[in-house]
Amino acid sequence: MREPATIRFFPVSHNMTRGLFISFEGIDGAGKSTHIDRVAQLFREAGRAVVLSREPGGTPLSEKLRELVLHEPMDALTEALLMFAARREHLGQVIEPALARGDVVLCDRFTDATFAYQGGGRGFDWQVLVQLERMVQSLPDGALRQPELTIWFDLDPHIAAQRLASARVPDKFESQPADFFAAVRAGYAKRRAEMPGRFARIDAAQSLDAVGADVGRLLSDWMKRTTA
Ligand code: TYD
Repeated sequence: MREPATIRFFPVSHNMTRGLFISFEGIDGAGKSTHIDRVAQLFREAGRAVVLSREPGGTPLSEKLRELVLHEPMDALTEALLMFAARREHLGQVIEPALARGDVVLCDRFTDATFAYQGGGRGFDWQVLVQLERMVQSLPDGALRQPELTIWFDLDPHIAAQRLASARVPDKFESQPADFFAAVRAGYAKRRAEMPGRFARIDAAQSLDAVGADVGRLLSDWMKRTTA
């Protein structure tokens, strides 16, 4: 059953032709996937074309890179380069064309995950990531392609670990210890402090329905602000 807070989701007159780029972030086990599907459904009900994608991944080549990066041991720079290589391909093949068509792009993780996981978790040089980001995400006019809104599902790593314990076989990142995820969480917090305008935090320790209601309210408010 959908929460009342998510029913009146968009201002009636919102601009239906402008592309929107929204990313979803959080440590493994924070529970973002359910909410991404729900948000996609809400946009579709509002008559929008939705492109649902993920990183690393989203194109045949990027999915191959995902297999490597999630399962093969490698050093932090190699890992960061592969994440950005996959992103470059994903931007060129999927995200930019979708935004140009005026679609809504919902992305399960984007560049903030590299700052959180490789920067925070692995302790890799933050400024090198800033340089790679500029190289990969620059637009022809010099602006940086970023999600307009990033929804960060923030959760204590110990609670996330309990949730993951009953889930499937862990990949390379999911099998990391709690202090790795504490550092990833700190990476997200740092990134949010650097870019507060687009970064919204949701308390993911709440029940599924309460988190869903928060996401609905957040999006509704954001749509009113950005499309008014
Ligand atoms: P995830 O998005 O959680 O997919 P699933 O739910 O199918 O496991 O898995 C992707 C993993 O990759 C996750 O542990 C975070 C990690 N990751 C990075 O380390 N850096 C990145 O830049 C991205 C996009 C993901």
